[in-house]
Amino acid sequence: MELPTLDKFPKRVLAKIDIQKAFVLSCLIIAAERLQLFRVLHDKRMTAEAIGKSLKLHTLYRLPFLNAMVSLGLLQKQNDLYWNTRFAEQYFIEERSIYWTRQYSRECVIAYERLTVLEQALASGKRHYQIKGFPKPDYLERMKRNPREAEDFTQMLFYLHQGDAEALASYLDLSQHRKLLDVAGGSGVMSIALVKKNPHLHACILDIAPVCRIAARNVRTTKLTRRIRTLTGDIQRGLPTGYDVIMFCDIRPISMRLLQQAYEKPPPDGLVVLMDRYVSDDGTDPLDRLAEHFVGSGFGLATRGQMIEALKSCGFRRIKSKKIYQDVWFITGVRPVVSSQ
Ligand SMILES: C[S@@+](CC[C@H](N)C(=O)[O-])C[C@H]1O[C@@H](n2cnc3c(N)ncnc32)[C@H](O)[C@@H]1O
Repeated sequence: MELPTLDKFPKRVLAKIDIQKAFVLSCLIIAAERLQLFRVLHDKRMTAEAIGKSLKLHTLYRLPFLNAMVSLGLLQKQNDLYWNTRFAEQYFIEERSIYWTRQYSRECVIAYERLTVLEQALASGKRHYQIKGFPKPDYLERMKRNPREAEDFTQMLFYLHQGDAEALASYLDLSQHRKLLDVAGGSGVMSIALVKKNPHLHACILDIAPVCRIAARNVRTTKLTRRIRTLTGDIQRGLPTGYDVIMFCDIRPISMRLLQQAYEKPPPDGLVVLMDRYVSDDGTDPLDRLAEHFVGSGFGLATRGQMIEALKSCGFRRIKSKKIYQDVWFITGVRPVVSSQ
């Protein structure tokens, strides 16, 4: 899945953007996404008035808003007609589902609100919610309370992680393994890719109930119900036994307690798989993971090296780490036949 990163914008547009003011343009694009401008214009041409009616735009802002999108290279305009450029069709329609449109732009607005206290946070070391006197944000609780948000978040990741999942399936040799536990497996995107690639493999997606329901639907769509099941549970309460591969994808931070269980529960020769955009050992990469640190809920910035050390200290051996796809690290470790602890 591709993101509309700056390098994909026309040079003439980039040349006019001052990095300190780039956030204004970002906010306009986020508003366009939240109003679903590009979806309204998908495959059609509309007048400003018709767009204004459909999106409920005030006449004060209607033309400047649409013309700013033209200036950004996202819309085209002829006389009073507007339509999506090829770029907008690709990155805001073809490359993302409606879940992604809804969830990602919602997260951008939340991030923006959090950044309003950035300087206080930098000076005090407090998180944004502490400065504002709010309770610590808990996305898990929000998903439990709001099934629509659970669906948007989970299905956004289903699309966003397709590339990671395919890369993982080509990289991982599971020929000697039979049963995989996908810890906090979300939409099931990773299990589906691995089970498709390995005809002998069975997988279990462990997650909270609203997410499991969505994963089960994805599994049914791919006709893999005989080999992939879901299991409702809280990973903080322990992992089930009976699996010879334990996998953690994009679930930071992984506590030492969980890693220790991933070591103890499988039989000897059991495999642990970690997959995430871990920070480089010198702490400078990837940039978007660093940026997330200032707007997220405090997931931490584990480095690849720290994760390897954590696996070693649990007893795992034959540890391998490789960056296979974009900024994503795959780390594997094996539980030795004779325990080294
Ligand atoms: C960022 S998503 C990653 C999903 C999936 N592993 C993937 O790579 O697409 C994190 C997942 O962890 C699940 N999760 C977080 N804390 C959990 C807990 N205590 N028990 C069960 N699931 C949890 C969330 O519901 C969510 O589906």
